[in-house]
Amino acid sequence: MYRIGKEELEEIRKVFESKQLSRYGDPKEGHLQEVVTFEREWAEKIGTKYALLMAGGGTSALASGLIGLGIGPGDEVIVPGYTFIATASAVLNAGAIPVIAEIDETLTLDPVDFERKITPNTKAVIPVHMQGLPANMTRIIEIAQKYNIKVIEDACQAVGGSYKGNRLGSLGDVGVFSFNYYKIISCGEGGCIVTNDRLVYERVLVYHDSGFVFLSPSPKEVNIPIFIGLQLRANEIMGAILRVQLRRLDSILSDLRRIKKVFIEELKLTGVKFVPVNDPEGDCGVVVGFQFESEKDAREFAQREGVKGWLPIDTGKHVYSNWEPILEHRVGHHPRMNPFEFPENKGLRINYSKDMCPRTLDILSRTVFITINPDWTDEEIEKRIRACKEALR
Ligand SMILES: Cc1ncc(COP(=O)(O)O)c(C=O)c1O
Repeated sequence: MYRIGKEELEEIRKVFESKQLSRYGDPKEGHLQEVVTFEREWAEKIGTKYALLMAGGGTSALASGLIGLGIGPGDEVIVPGYTFIATASAVLNAGAIPVIAEIDETLTLDPVDFERKITPNTKAVIPVHMQGLPANMTRIIEIAQKYNIKVIEDACQAVGGSYKGNRLGSLGDVGVFSFNYYKIISCGEGGCIVTNDRLVYERVLVYHDSGFVFLSPSPKEVNIPIFIGLQLRANEIMGAILRVQLRRLDSILSDLRRIKKVFIEELKLTGVKFVPVNDPEGDCGVVVGFQFESEKDAREFAQREGVKGWLPIDTGKHVYSNWEPILEHRVGHHPRMNPFEFPENKGLRINYSKDMCPRTLDILSRTVFITINPDWTDEEIEKRIRACKEALR
């Protein structure tokens, strides 16, 4: 989270005074409709028909999205080797098998390896817009259409970004966002799913809220038979905070992008190689990325005084080789609930190794990121750029 202030507090106060904290309630009785209004505003912002806010974060939103698309046992879902473990674990939550693919120099899913990893069992792909950097959606969607594969965009780290004029999350069949504390806008924890597909929306609505649809099934909202899911309903405080955060989003993104441009302008004369971006205009500007010839060069640069850089290879559960519970098939609370043991999944590609995506490990260990803060002063920006220039000399 970058910015939060009195405006959020004021909206929370109103929710408290209404004494109606659940997402459901009658406006005639003072219910403020914060969650429902946020969902409408978010769908409009992203450019989709439907949005559903939920507790349980991006992780639950990803799992719900897969379930909404009907993905389950017997299905393979391709995920990149550089993403938070949740992208892959959500596939297992749906009962399907994650297949790990390489990233390319853009730090996002390599379309060539994506296509190479497709089998007759592949039902979906999850491109991830890591660090606000858009994946190559043109190629990914072309390949997905050729093989009749669903696309779920993981835009958890790229809230508000875009690709060739369309908001990230709106290009695939489903888009997923995280509003956890570390994301571009936040309500502490929370996730959101967007789609244009009514059936997917209804399935996610039921899955995320079995309790409600059992108590008061509304034919207006749900035309499908209800089924057992979880209770992931968002509450009115989340909705109230996010409505203010949404109003802050454009200025946060414009400050991040402005600062990133200054870094690039100032440092390009040094000859340093920047991480190539699939759509520089749509990039959220969360990080400036540099690519070096070797890990040694990358580490030397990152550690130089004042640079404050970091290597994505060091970011723990964001690198597939550290996904031990998945690599070692430790899933679920009971052996019979472990998708790796499901008969339907037996013939699928369930064998992993720590070195199965060597290119991903190589790129991540030669990359340095500097995380941008949209509230840096001009002096701060200048100081950091000076430190980078000295380190690159
Ligand atoms: C790329 C990516 N996907 C999914 C998630 C999961 O989101 P959450 O923490 O809101 O469950 C995260 C969170 O860090 C993420 O970075």
